[in-house]
Amino acid sequence: MPTAAPLRVIQITDLHLTARPGSRLWGADVDAGLNAVLAHIQERRPAADFVLATGDLVGDDPGAYPRLRQLLEALDLPVYCLPGNHDFPGVMGQVLRDGPVRWERQFSVGDWQFVLLDSSFPRTPDGHLAPGELALLDTALAIHPELHALVCLHHNPVPVHSAWLDTMTVSNSAALFAVLDRYPQVRAVVWGHIHSEFAARRGALHLLATPATCMQFKLDAPEPQVDDRSPGYRWFELHPDGALHTGVERVALPARPHGLTRRVPA
Ligand SMILES: [Fe+2]
Repeated sequence: MPTAAPLRVIQITDLHLTARPGSRLWGADVDAGLNAVLAHIQERRPAADFVLATGDLVGDDPGAYPRLRQLLEALDLPVYCLPGNHDFPGVMGQVLRDGPVRWERQFSVGDWQFVLLDSSFPRTPDGHLAPGELALLDTALAIHPELHALVCLHHNPVPVHSAWLDTMTVSNSAALFAVLDRYPQVRAVVWGHIHSEFAARRGALHLLATPATCMQFKLDAPEPQVDDRSPGYRWFELHPDGALHTGVERVALPARPHGLTRRVPA
């Protein structure tokens, strides 16, 4: 059934959650960033229809998936997940098997189709799309030529002008674009991994990356370097005619309570 109003979709990425609250990643409070982002999403009006979570959902801690599910269920929205290089696909597939927060591969809402690819590769931070992922994409797009499509994955499929992050670009991105180029209904490719905002075009195709909910990286640094920008997320308005509007929200972290300022040891 065609929808008159646009679909309102949120993308969150690179949560790096651990089983216990209070962990830090490159100095950033992982829970504080995620909580601020989730609170901002809950206050949005009109409310989102659903959320896409594009990998590094946990930070090298397979025990964090139950807490991840609990935190995201509080949004009271469907959350469709895919894995990144810091995830554990086997555990993730078990804990996020069903329910409102789940690992999903493909679904359609209104006039749009969403395909979620797994670009993670065992024991490496590099991105790679296995033949089965490319076949899934090809099949999904071939079955629904009438639906506009948004394709999600974790790793950047194009260089993002970062000397060190571009060493982890999807290694077989040519094979990905060989599929995408055959389906003009694909409106955007969306990813995380770079902990930064990025936007480019490939013809009419939007190429979009989104800030992490935790710490941010400087893209123009020659080696890994923290950017002091705030955590964030991306919003989409996806219209029935294929028009796509998008933007990034940066979310201020709450001020540290006075009682918790670091004390200088005597
Ligand atoms: Fe990450």
